[in-house]
Amino acid sequence: MKKGRTPIIAGNWKMNTTPTVAVELAKAVVEKTAGVKGVIRVVCPPFVSVHAVRQAVAGSGILIGAQNVHSKDSGAFTGEVSAPMLDGLVEFAIVGHSERRKIFGETDADVAAKAKAVAARRIRAVLCVGESLEIRESGRAEQAVRAQLKASLEGFDAWGYLAVAYEPVWAIGTGKAATPEQAGDMAGAIRQELKSIAGREPVDGFAILYGGSVTGENAGPFVDRPDIDGALVGGASLKADDFAKIVQVTASIAASAK
Ligand code: 13P
Repeated sequence: MKKGRTPIIAGNWKMNTTPTVAVELAKAVVEKTAGVKGVIRVVCPPFVSVHAVRQAVAGSGILIGAQNVHSKDSGAFTGEVSAPMLDGLVEFAIVGHSERRKIFGETDADVAAKAKAVAARRIRAVLCVGESLEIRESGRAEQAVRAQLKASLEGFDAWGYLAVAYEPVWAIGTGKAATPEQAGDMAGAIRQELKSIAGREPVDGFAILYGGSVTGENAGPFVDRPDIDGALVGGASLKADDFAKIVQVTASIAASAK
């Protein structure tokens, strides 16, 4: 976290919570994070709960994110949700999560199309990148993540509508987070790569998040790294107390950032 950047703590609820439970969780997050300043709080519920959660957090400053989106505006795509449908309902949209890439076969080109589609609606894309364990162990993680980032941003130029989440696949849902050093170094490489892709400096203001087994206990040292500006939280975001703790730790680190 560097002075001048506003950290983002986003909870990716994945395929969890019924609408009733989602509203309860959202209200608990409102209550437990009220009064925390200087952190952008985002919750990403399942689509069926987006509207109800939006109402539940109204007036709290908490923003809403979609977990996915289709790249086309409309058409015969049964079961899909488009960016124009999300217009006014969400401020963020996760694109290219490794679960989408791995389980649903999304390619870098698909992800690039999604990022463009949401940015066109002034929804900020949270673009996920991250290497597999095999690639990490082969020593090619940085090279792979840089290539993935570049390919997932093909044709993208709405730089004000982008945040990047570094989520190493081996750290997601495993309880085995990356070390703050591994995550911080990769965030630095991502920032450098973004500069070369965008071809300009303002990329310095971009938010780069770390995701993968982040909890209230381990969040601090991640956010303390100069190139990490927040977290994309899975499991721990389903518990309001844990999520609130991550928000609080981040706020205190941001307040003393240099
Ligand atoms: P966990 O925090 O459960 O490891 O999930 C991380 C993630 O995939 C967030 O998008």
